[in-house]
Amino acid sequence: MVTIGIVGAGLRGRLFAEALKEQPDVTVVGFAEPSAKVAEDARAATGLPVTGSHPELLEAFDPDAVIVATPDFAHRQIAVDVAESGKHLLIEKPVATTLDDAHAIAAAVHHAGVRCLVGFENRWNPHVVQAKTAMASLGRPITASATLSNSFFVPTTMLSWAAQSSPAWFLMPHTLDLVLWLTGRKPVSVSAVGSRGVLARRGIDTWDVVHALVAFDDGSTATLSSAWTLPDAGDGIVDFRFQVIGTEGSVTADLSHQGLTVVSDKYRSAWPVSGRIGRSQVGPAVWMVQNFAAGLVDGGDLGPDIDHGVLVTQIICAIEDSISTGQTVQLTTPTD
Ligand SMILES: NC(=O)c1ccc[n+]([C@@H]2O[C@H](COP(=O)([O-])OP(=O)(O)OC[C@H]3O[C@@H](n4cnc5c(N)ncnc54)[C@H](O)[C@@H]3O)[C@@H](O)[C@H]2O)c1
Repeated sequence: MVTIGIVGAGLRGRLFAEALKEQPDVTVVGFAEPSAKVAEDARAATGLPVTGSHPELLEAFDPDAVIVATPDFAHRQIAVDVAESGKHLLIEKPVATTLDDAHAIAAAVHHAGVRCLVGFENRWNPHVVQAKTAMASLGRPITASATLSNSFFVPTTMLSWAAQSSPAWFLMPHTLDLVLWLTGRKPVSVSAVGSRGVLARRGIDTWDVVHALVAFDDGSTATLSSAWTLPDAGDGIVDFRFQVIGTEGSVTADLSHQGLTVVSDKYRSAWPVSGRIGRSQVGPAVWMVQNFAAGLVDGGDLGPDIDHGVLVTQIICAIEDSISTGQTVQLTTPTD
């Protein structure tokens, strides 16, 4: 039996608890959550105990593994303490929002020798998995593009901490991971531009839109775009599209329109692969956390590791640098 504690009882923490409810040989022992209101809701919804902090969670339940599902900027202390106490980790993306934090987490994970999955859930997204299989028939990747944007709802209503994140930190970990995984290329430089002002006027002082151009060591390229300013009256809260063009063909996905349209007070596309189907909870994040738990039980592969998570944080730091300096930023690796 593997026991798992969850730090952060918000949207993701609760989803993970639900996803693991019927997981064989796995028990979720409880949450750590500092907000009294969120803690009370989580207790009522799941029946699980909730402690006020991650040290209390570790002390009370001594779990085998911990899921870090706190806001983007609040992963470091928790992940380092958890790793140092010898527990395995699932850390939500982005690993951290500074390179210093990301390196500190990676150092703790490596030093303790614990297992660590970073929550790049698209590795369990059926469209992305099929695209990965299709890459074998596309020849050499020439260029890739990916758009992942949200409607205003996400920064203004869903996330209480949006001003401390951005479309780059919240969304681009997914598209960067996607492009790196599909193409298998090594990124060498980043140029980026962004615009701000619209969200700032609504009291959320962060980027409205970020565009990034990534160059790879073989001369291939990728463009990434993320906005937090789609109209709320539009298709839905997520717009997600990607394409890879290779020397022998291309693969293209539009996950914003998955063939299910709902019209009531407004038009919207719905995500058929989410929620419950029969007895099963479904969706990429569900399959990701179930794979994590199963891998802890049987020793199988967990998925993208801490070093990949650090690379993604490094690229997003470079995107921020490029926006502020107007210069192309070279990416260095310890082996360069
Ligand atoms: N919401 C999504 O669709 C989504 C998707 C993929 C990944 N993520 C990532 O998951 C993480 C969590 O996002 P969320 O949407 O669940 O946020 P959320 O705001 O719904 O939940 C985060 C919870 O963490 C709690 N928290 C803050 N500091 C804490 C601490 N030190 N110890 C314990 N709890 C603490 C907050 O009180 C809050 O209840 C983020 O890194 C986010 O980028 C979110």
